[in-house]
Amino acid sequence: MRNKLLPASFFNPISILGGIVALIAWIAFLFLVILTKSLGEYNVYMEIFTYLIVPVFLIVGLLLIAIGMMIRKRLQRKGIEGLDKKNIFIFNLNEVKTRNSLIIFISVTVIFIISTVVGSYEAFHYTESNEFCGKLCHKVMTPEYSTYQLSPHARVPCVECHIGEGVNWFVKSKISGVRQVFHYISSTFPMPIETPLISLRPAKETCEKCHWPQKFYTHKLNHFKYFLRDSANTEWDLVLKMKIGPSHQSFKTSEGIHWHINPDVEIQYKASEQRDSVFWVKYSNKKTGTETIFQDEEMIKSDSELAVMQTRTMDCMDCHNRPSHEYRSPYFYINNLFVSGKIPSSVPWLKRVGMIALKPKYSTVDSAVLGIKNKILTTYQNKYPEVLRKHKEEIDSAAAVITLAYLENTFPEMKISFREYPRHIGHFESDGCFRCHNGRYKSDKGKEISKDCYNCHTIVQQGIKDSTDFCDINSTLDYIHPVDIENDWQEQLCSDCHSLPSKN
Ligand code: HEC
Ligand code: HEC
Ligand code: HEC
Ligand code: HEC
Ligand code: HEC
Ligand code: HEC
Repeated sequence: MRNKLLPASFFNPISILGGIVALIAWIAFLFLVILTKSLGEYNVYMEIFTYLIVPVFLIVGLLLIAIGMMIRKRLQRKGIEGLDKKNIFIFNLNEVKTRNSLIIFISVTVIFIISTVVGSYEAFHYTESNEFCGKLCHKVMTPEYSTYQLSPHARVPCVECHIGEGVNWFVKSKISGVRQVFHYISSTFPMPIETPLISLRPAKETCEKCHWPQKFYTHKLNHFKYFLRDSANTEWDLVLKMKIGPSHQSFKTSEGIHWHINPDVEIQYKASEQRDSVFWVKYSNKKTGTETIFQDEEMIKSDSELAVMQTRTMDCMDCHNRPSHEYRSPYFYINNLFVSGKIPSSVPWLKRVGMIALKPKYSTVDSAVLGIKNKILTTYQNKYPEVLRKHKEEIDSAAAVITLAYLENTFPEMKISFREYPRHIGHFESDGCFRCHNGRYKSDKGKEISKDCYNCHTIVQQGIKDSTDFCDINSTLDYIHPVDIENDWQEQLCSDCHSLPSKN
């Protein structure tokens, strides 16, 4: 057996060890593949083990076999083992021993190549999967993965936006992936993960593969419902007609909000690293060649200061910066819980008390779960004990629902909330459009980036539920702030008062 099945050079300690390692790895691989497929249940760690770790042992084993055989041959050639030199390169298929060796060699190679190809394909495929991106580094990616699953892009794989097509980006992403794994293992990743992602592929190569600038959207109605912080949780309704695109389809992207991405238009800007403060804006019309530069009249930067700042060309991501990882603020999700009936607006002061309970910063999930519930109960106990007595059960279950909504939007362990990752659509809790459209940006010729409330949207309906004002779809109502703050809403930015739950 020893002499007939395997070449003599195999029988050295290194190759035998390699053979054992490879055989065990290979059996383990087959076993794990069958197990994972037959269980049908998805397990990240099992997949990693099967497709990334076991193949490494298989390869190491096979390498050991080859190395051992090479060393052995070398020694033989040097005559240490006194082999008959004349026979070294004779390859005689009439010999049973040679034939057997060849058959074994070929079958092992074929099986090995097939399993390696399947294994590497699966491994490659696996590193591209949402589970790999979203679950492997569990702690780090939980916020992105959870918000992603609730987003309009829940069915778009992570790699479509984060890697896109092409070998170049593929290699870049794998290199940066290795670095990220290192940061993860050594726990040296930033918390929260820094944003904006400078390495993110431009929108042209990601978003625009599915949506594209020439595809225009016309006007759209957005319904907002707010519950005020009075005893009745009074509902305040607002319907905005968003001028996303043109008023008539024949105008395409020549007007409206998506005018910024009209292929004839280029808007460039210089901003702080976080892109939350803009200092300089240039609008160029590529067709006519006209250029207009706008600067913040309260924050004029010198040429030398501007020269060292990067210039960014506006694309989808400058407004839609949270297309799939949106972290909303308490006012937003509590209002939504009322609208969907998950918490009852019939319990007096619930909006106010909920907002108070979400004001503190909780540093862990456990402290949030305990803290929110306690704060809701003690606030009722101290301020409105009558209500607590009457609605104890409803308040208890509302506390649980509010906590859940908090945990869908806030991730204490990664220090993430709407404050760290502001969304740039709108201008309510963060400046968003008002980073430029705040009335302070003027050109030399006195042109201004408009803050006119009716330029981006008009108001079709507003007021207290059941007694709202309406107007014709082509005109607008004058904005009324839900609580009387005189003209402050015109003179200040909304975020001055609404960026922190403490003030809202
Ligand atoms: C529709 C496109 C899209 C999809 C799908 C998507 N992302 Fe993102 N992701 C983005 C954008 C845009 C940003 C923010 C970039 C910025 O502000 O510079 C981002 C940011 C991130 C960040 C940095 C932290 C942050 O929130 O700014 C991480 C981490 C991340 N994504 C992971 C994932 C994972 C994991 C998946 C899949 C489970 C995924 N993404 C799916 C578009 C996407
Ligand atoms: C692989 C295709 C794909 C890619 C890439 C993609 N999207 Fe989408 N996007 C979709 C689909 C599908 C929807 C959902 C359409 C629906 O619900 O009707 C959607 C919806 C949207 C919406 C509407 C959201 C809403 O609330 O209804 C916006 C805005 C959007 N995408 C922006 C982006 C941006 C910005 C990027 C790049 C970061 C991007 N998309 C990348 C496929 C894609
Ligand atoms: C100047 C900011 C801005 C830029 C740049 C921008 N968008 Fe939008 N987009 C908006 C706003 C605002 C809305 C309306 C949001 C709402 O309904 O609240 C919108 C709506 C959308 C919608 C949903 C349309 C619908 O009918 O629901 C899609 C899809 C979309 N944008 C895709 C894109 C893509 C893709 C790009 C880049 C090619 C892009 N946007 C660039 C601001 C922008
Ligand atoms: C980086 C700066 C910047 C940001 C951010 C920005 N814009 Fe603009 N926007 C401009 C400039 C510059 C103009 C052109 C001003 C002019 O020449 O009148 C403009 C023009 C507009 C116009 C008028 C287009 C027309 O019909 O002629 C609308 C509407 C608009 N922006 C909406 C928005 C909305 C909505 C957002 C936020 C989602 C936003 N913009 C964010 C720079 C910006
Ligand atoms: C540059 C464009 C632009 C201008 C100017 C603008 N808005 Fe808006 N506004 C938006 C966009 C975009 C949204 C949509 C936010 C969203 O979909 O969440 C919005 C949302 C709102 C909302 C709903 C806020 C929320 O998140 O609940 C109110 C209220 C509002 N705007 C009032 C105003 C008033 C009042 C002014 C004038 C002082 C004004 N807007 C000026 C673009 C603009
Ligand atoms: C001077 C501070 C201040 C400014 C500036 C301000 N607000 Fe308010 N806003 C308030 C206060 C106070 C409330 C009352 C909170 C309550 O009763 O829920 C409020 C409530 C609201 C609500 C109801 C919110 C909820 O909790 O459901 C909306 C919507 C709103 N403001 C929109 C705006 C918009 C849009 C702007 C900018 C155009 C703006 N506000 C500017 C102080 C301000």
